[in-house]
Amino acid sequence: MSEKIIIFDTTLRDGEQSPGASLNIKEKLEIGRQLAVLGVDAIEAGFPISSPGDFKAVQTVAREVKGPIICGLARSLEKDIDAAHNAVKYSRRPRIHVFLATSKIHMKYKLKKAEGEILRLAVSAVKYARKKCADIEFSPEDASRTEKSFLYKVVEAVIGAGATTVNIPDTVGYATPFEFGELIRGIKENVPNISRAVISVHCHNDLGLGVANSLAAVLNGARQVECTMNGLGERAGNASLEEIVMAIRTRTDIFRGMATGVHTRELCKTSKLVSKLTGMIVQPNKAIIGSNAFAHESGIHQDGVLKERITYEIMRPQDVGFEATRLVLGKHSGRHAFHERLKGMGYSLSEAQLEKAFDQFKVLADKKKEIFDEDLQTIVDEEIRKIPETFSLAHFYITSGDQIKPTANVRIKSHNKTLESTSSGDGPVDACYKAIDKITGMKGKLLDYQIRSVTSGKDALGEVSVKISSKKGVVSGRGASTDIIEASIKAYVNAMNRLARPKR
Ligand code: KIV
Ligand code: ZN
Repeated sequence: MSEKIIIFDTTLRDGEQSPGASLNIKEKLEIGRQLAVLGVDAIEAGFPISSPGDFKAVQTVAREVKGPIICGLARSLEKDIDAAHNAVKYSRRPRIHVFLATSKIHMKYKLKKAEGEILRLAVSAVKYARKKCADIEFSPEDASRTEKSFLYKVVEAVIGAGATTVNIPDTVGYATPFEFGELIRGIKENVPNISRAVISVHCHNDLGLGVANSLAAVLNGARQVECTMNGLGERAGNASLEEIVMAIRTRTDIFRGMATGVHTRELCKTSKLVSKLTGMIVQPNKAIIGSNAFAHESGIHQDGVLKERITYEIMRPQDVGFEATRLVLGKHSGRHAFHERLKGMGYSLSEAQLEKAFDQFKVLADKKKEIFDEDLQTIVDEEIRKIPETFSLAHFYITSGDQIKPTANVRIKSHNKTLESTSSGDGPVDACYKAIDKITGMKGKLLDYQIRSVTSGKDALGEVSVKISSKKGVVSGRGASTDIIEASIKAYVNAMNRLARPKR
């Protein structure tokens, strides 16, 4: 039997305290439902006294979300505890989370109270809450900056008063992992009645150590971790749920015999929902759930992953809810990944064709950050459906603007010669086409011109399709480039090559 690490999710309370991340009742309920599917043990749904809307939201989550404990936050004041109780009492598993600051800094500047008074208030708040609810959590706020002897005294007293969980917050993200682990060990060793309560931790990320501190605490006896999806929370946020859960699951050699009840395959979905509803975008390189967390671009890494995934992946993407490992084709990618992707797209090319397509891919990759399947399709289609190149673009130069007549200078290679012409037109494309007509001596009438972006983003590859008619008939042409004028010229030249093709 593994030892359970309780996952207490505070996305809807501390996470919602992220500047700009507030959620309405419907949104809290939607996230609460998904957190239950994810399998968290407790959901802190809000701070009921803080606003009528938050009270309603906590009440709604308590009524509707089945499975996890539903918790409401309260200061050590009777009116807060009453509000929290009235909001969570509809849950089958209600919890009231009472807090009071215990550090010298907070007691002196914020609360303006001495130790004795703080101790008395904490005990009476817990006793009051305990009369209303059997499950009481107490947090000595700013615990990591609290005098150790006073912290031990407070923790012992609140357990005596009925607290079932004592949560040790690193409120300002000041602690370091070794130090925080020692703090938890100190509590275990110096609080005589500690076995009557679960030790919880709540670490903020001001120094980027929220997860490391939480894990150090687990190794020293903490059995509940408070965390948020995507690491949301006050200032730099809280310890991120997905990182805590996957660290415990992946490093079973370190977290020996420990497990959470989280269904990790729901992580991505939950993360996306939280991001969508809070408007807090997840950075691509975010551990576990970032879009790049299982994406490889460099040729060496891609080659390794294709030979054996575990060379560069410590977790299976499917285990956190991604479909698969992503091999991103870009300028660092190598032949192995390129060939595999083409095979996957159903292309079977000869060695020579593959080599040529690979060279073109590298040229494009220098211009574009990421090469998508559509880009490859364009490259390969041009390679496979190759028609004799009577004409090819050597160079073009345009001047255009709203105050000058667009002019184009175009150079076309044909039979080892470079032919050049300059023309003006209604727009830069028209000017280029007129210059090309002069060079080729094949006047084409443009019947159709279409441009579409084959990939997304500012550096997207644009594909131009044209249909032109001439004395020789109607032909079409296609061209692609990150520059739409270049794509337009290539499409026209491609059509000209069809016109120049000897009749079969
Ligand atoms: O960071 C903190 O100390 C808190 C408490 C209310 C637990 O959020
Ligand atoms: Zn907090």
